[in-house]
Amino acid sequence: MIIAIDGPAASGKGTIARRLAQHYGLPHLDTGLLYRATARVLLDQGERLDDAERAVSAARGLALTDFEEERLRGAEIGEAASVVAAIPAVRAALLETQRAFATQASGAVLDGRDIGTVICPDANAKLFVTARPETRAQRRALELRGRGERADYADVLADILRRDERDSGRSSAPLVAASDAILLDTSDLDVDAAVAAARAIVEKVGRRL
Ligand code: DC
Repeated sequence: MIIAIDGPAASGKGTIARRLAQHYGLPHLDTGLLYRATARVLLDQGERLDDAERAVSAARGLALTDFEEERLRGAEIGEAASVVAAIPAVRAALLETQRAFATQASGAVLDGRDIGTVICPDANAKLFVTARPETRAQRRALELRGRGERADYADVLADILRRDERDSGRSSAPLVAASDAILLDTSDLDVDAAVAAARAIVEKVGRRL
């Protein structure tokens, strides 16, 4: 079974994806980490984020072990990842890794922005997880403070709105719900309620391969 989960930053999609993967015993790929790790290479090398050639070579050189670093989760890299992710050649360079992960024999859970539309158009279950921008900004500010970063609510909200616009407005694989995705608004749900709602959706629409 392939479960595709898309949605904007801090919508809860990552937590839901992790918990669904645990529940169904499936491997999970947070595809945002691919773009974050690509951006990190460019930042570390002092390269411009919009240098397509260097960004593609950074994307091609990634190893899945690059992904567990705490720094990848920070605000600076999230913003940089959104810039890098708008380069079509970078998306193309990362496509096969994601498809290979999705089509492994065990099945998989992937979360990102274009999983249901581009990476796994034939997924058994597609969820589009969203929440009000103000709620997402509150969650992200709490998360960043928990990681020891300074996070002013107004700045975080502005950052989230800017990223939404960039991720939704780009020409290559923009953030958009697949026509057959089920919408899950987590604005008024705590984590357990959101996960329970996601499971109910998967059980209703998920078709075994
Ligand atoms: O989900 P995240 O915040 O870790 O994602 C970081 C950036 O990567 C996000 O702003 C857009 C981009 N991204 C993407 O374009 N496509 C994906 N499948 C996942 C992330």
